[in-house]
Amino acid sequence: MKALVTGASRGIGRAIAVGLAEDGAEVVGVHYAANRAAASETAALVAAAGAKAVLVEASLNVDGVVGARRIAAEWEGDLDVLVNNAGIDARQPFGEVDEEKYRRIIEINLTAPLFLTQELAPRLRDGGRIVNITTGYTRIAAPTHPAYAAAKAGVNNLGLALAPVFGPRGITVNAVMPGIIDTDMNADWLPEGRAEAAAYSVFNRVGTPADVALVVRYLASDAGRWVTGQVIDATGGSAL
Ligand SMILES: NC(=O)c1ccc[n+]([C@@H]2O[C@H](COP(=O)([O-])OP(=O)(O)OC[C@H]3O[C@@H](n4cnc5c(N)ncnc54)[C@H](OP(=O)(O)O)[C@@H]3O)[C@@H](O)[C@H]2O)c1
Repeated sequence: MKALVTGASRGIGRAIAVGLAEDGAEVVGVHYAANRAAASETAALVAAAGAKAVLVEASLNVDGVVGARRIAAEWEGDLDVLVNNAGIDARQPFGEVDEEKYRRIIEINLTAPLFLTQELAPRLRDGGRIVNITTGYTRIAAPTHPAYAAAKAGVNNLGLALAPVFGPRGITVNAVMPGIIDTDMNADWLPEGRAEAAAYSVFNRVGTPADVALVVRYLASDAGRWVTGQVIDATGGSAL
């Protein structure tokens, strides 16, 4: 199995990349924006798990189409699993949404997954997998993050729209929506807000990257072959 994981230098993407290597992937693409040191750490973990790691550098910041095409151009050959995980969680209440940040949120979180999927579609092998990482904020109201929630909701629906497109080739398309996960994305508030964050989940703890990666690994495995066009809630039962 050959897998490409965007945003795999840190956090959830790293756990997915290493997890797929543990599940027997021969090659795992570790995409990152700029943090080469972190990406190299992921690559070392992927290699330790028995897979060949391929570093792919491309910022999706300014233009998600250009960034997606750059990733596709750097990727050699075909692949079985594409995980669109790279994202930014820009907290920005409705009254403060400004054009620059809005465009960045849309480019990275919505435009890039769509065009990367389009670019790599001809090289995805039959029986492959596309997994998009979205957010629990598409189910739970997030007045603090309206643009982010809207972008990720678009990705949820992209999976629904594309499932029939890829179905004839045995390729599944699904979204996985995490709740609050202990990553750099939340590093500025989690240390003090941990108890409050934990209380969102019925399990009364903050999620780990591995919690989300296990769901992606299931979808990427043969066990996930009959599941497509779905949005899988991996929020640990948040706000139920
Ligand atoms: N953490 C949560 O609580 C949470 C909750 C729900 C959903 N999610 C979603 O889960 C995914 C992963 O989140 P995370 O918490 O693991 O994130 P993270 O720890 O902040 O890591 C973000 C990853 O995305 C890459 N990235 C960031 N900006 C980029 C850009 N402009 N262009 C290309 N790549 C970029 C980073 O690369 P560099 O290292 O090079 O910067 C890094 O690999 C995201 O889609 C996020 O929206 C996270």
